[in-house]
Amino acid sequence: MDYTRALAEAISPLCNLPAEEIEAWFETPKNAEMGDLAFPCFRLSKVLRKSPVEIANNLKCAVTLPEGISKAEAVAGYLNFYVDNACFAREVLSSVFEKGDSYGGADIGRGKTVVVEYSSINIAKPFHIGHLPTTVIGNSLANIYEALGYKVVRINHLGDWGTQFGKMLCAYEKWGEKPIEQYSVREMVSLYVRFHDEADRDESLLTQARAWFHRLESGDEKAVSLWKKMTSATLNEVSKVYDRLNVRFDSYAGEAFYEDKMPAIIDELRDKGIAKLDKGALIVDLSEWNMPPCIILKSDGSTIYATRDIAAACYRKATYDFDKCLYVVAYQQDLHFRQFFKVLELMGRDWVKDCVHVNFGMVSMEEGTLSTRHGNVVYLEDVLNAATSKTYEIICEKSPELEDKRAAAEAVGVGAIVWNSLYNSRIKDTSFSFSKVLNFEGETGPYVQYTYARASSVIRRCGQVDCSSFDCEKLTDPYSCALIKAIETFPEQVRQAAEKNEPYLVSRAVMNVCSAFNKFYYEVRIMADDHCERGARLALTAAARQVIKNGLTLLGLKAPERM
Ligand code: ARG
Repeated sequence: MDYTRALAEAISPLCNLPAEEIEAWFETPKNAEMGDLAFPCFRLSKVLRKSPVEIANNLKCAVTLPEGISKAEAVAGYLNFYVDNACFAREVLSSVFEKGDSYGGADIGRGKTVVVEYSSINIAKPFHIGHLPTTVIGNSLANIYEALGYKVVRINHLGDWGTQFGKMLCAYEKWGEKPIEQYSVREMVSLYVRFHDEADRDESLLTQARAWFHRLESGDEKAVSLWKKMTSATLNEVSKVYDRLNVRFDSYAGEAFYEDKMPAIIDELRDKGIAKLDKGALIVDLSEWNMPPCIILKSDGSTIYATRDIAAACYRKATYDFDKCLYVVAYQQDLHFRQFFKVLELMGRDWVKDCVHVNFGMVSMEEGTLSTRHGNVVYLEDVLNAATSKTYEIICEKSPELEDKRAAAEAVGVGAIVWNSLYNSRIKDTSFSFSKVLNFEGETGPYVQYTYARASSVIRRCGQVDCSSFDCEKLTDPYSCALIKAIETFPEQVRQAAEKNEPYLVSRAVMNVCSAFNKFYYEVRIMADDHCERGARLALTAAARQVIKNGLTLLGLKAPERM
C-alpha cells in the first residue's frame, strides 16, 4: 500500500499540481504522535498565495482521505496524516501469509543474471578464518539476488594454479608417505612448509620445483594427475565446512581453468598496443590513472593472477552474459581489481562497468579466543567446532530437556559465527570472541534464532492459527503496531541489500523484527482470554515468525524450531 502516492493523488486536484511533484514533498514526522506522514504546506504558498497555516486548514477540510488513512490534522503549517493501523495490519499480514517463504522477495531481477564469485579458496592451503567473510557475504548476496528473481551463478574461483604447485609436487615426490588423495589439508600444508625450510638450506630444490611446475604446465601425465588429486582432496575436505555453512556453488572453475583462455587475451593486448614490453615483461602501463602497471606476463613468460582474472571476466561474460558480476574479495585486493578492471576497459569491454568488487574488512579473534596450534593460521573448521561445543554446553544448561541438543548446537553455534560476519557494514574490520557471538541476549545470531524458536513454541502450544480471518482492530496497541511496521520494512531492506551489496541491511531488518517481537511478547498477552484478541495476536506471531525465518534463510542460517 503506497500511502504517499494515494495522498499525493488526493491533494493534486486541490492545488492543480501533478501528483508526482507533490509526492516528493511528504516527510515523516519526527514524533510518532504527530502522525505517519506530514505534508509541508509552505510548498504551496506561492501557487495558492496563502499562508501555510491557512493552506493546511483549508486542505484538511477539502481533502478526501484515501483508504487506509484514518485522519488528517493541521498543525503549524503542516497537514499530518494518520495511517489506519488496523487497515495497515491487515495489508501487511495478508502479504506475509500470501507470500510465505518468499515474503521479502520480488521479481525485479526477472530475466537478469548475476554472477557472484565468493569464497575462492586456495588448493592445498588452509580454509582459514580470513575466508569467512567472503564465503558468508557472497552466499547471502547470492541468496538475496535469487529471492529478488535474478538468475544467480555462484562461482568458487579456486586458487589452483601457480608456481607453488611445483613446490608441492616436488615436496610430495621427496617426502610423500602415502597416496596423495589420503592427505588432509593440514598434511599438505606441512609438506609445503617443509619444502620452504629445506629450500633455505638447499637451493637446488627451487630449480626442481620449477621443473615440476613446467611439467604441470605442459600437461605431463604424472604431474597433472597428482595436482588433480590434491584439488579433489582439498575440495572433499572443505565441502564439509561448506555444508555446515549452507553454502554451495554452481562452478568451481578456478585459476587453472583459464590456462588455455589466456593466449587470446595476451595476443589482443599486444595487437591493440595496450600492453608493451618492459624489461622483458609484458605490462599495461596505468600511470595515467595513478596506478602501478598491470603485469600480464612476467619476464620468464609466465602468466600471473591478473592475467587469469582478465581471462575469467571475459569468459564469464561470454558464458553467462551477466548483468552484474560481483567479486566478494577482501579490501587488500582493491588495487588489483582497479587495475584489471581498467585493463578490461582499455580493451573496449564496456561491460566492465557491471563488474563490482564487493570488498570487506578483516576478521580477527580477540586474544585467547582459540589457541592456534598451527602457527597463526586459524582454521575455520576449528572455529566452527569450538562454537558448536560451547553452544552445546549452553544448551545443556538452558534447556536440559531438549531432545536433539547436538543438532540445535550445530545450528546455533555455526549461526553465531556466520551472523557476526553479516551484522556490520562489510568494510568494517571485525573481531570476535565466543562470549560475544554466543551471547543469547546480545544482537547475535543465537538471539535471533532463540526468538524464532520462541515464536514457534507459541504457535505449537496454541495448535491452529487462522491466517485468513483475524480481527485487525485488535492489533492497534503500540507493541503490535511497532512489530507490524518492522515486518513491513523487511522487503524494502532486502532490495536495498542487493542494491548496495550489503547483507547487513537484511540482518538489521531481522533484528528489528526480533526486538519488536520480544517487546510484544513481554508486554502483550498473546494467549488472551478474549477469543478475538488471541486470534489476532497469534496471527501476528505467525507473521513475525515467518519473516524471521525468511531473513535467517537469506543470511544462510538455520531456523531451529526448538532450542
Ligand atoms: N584465492 C584468492 C585468495 O585466497 C582470492 C581470489 C579472489 N578472486 C579473484 N577473482 N581474484 O586470496
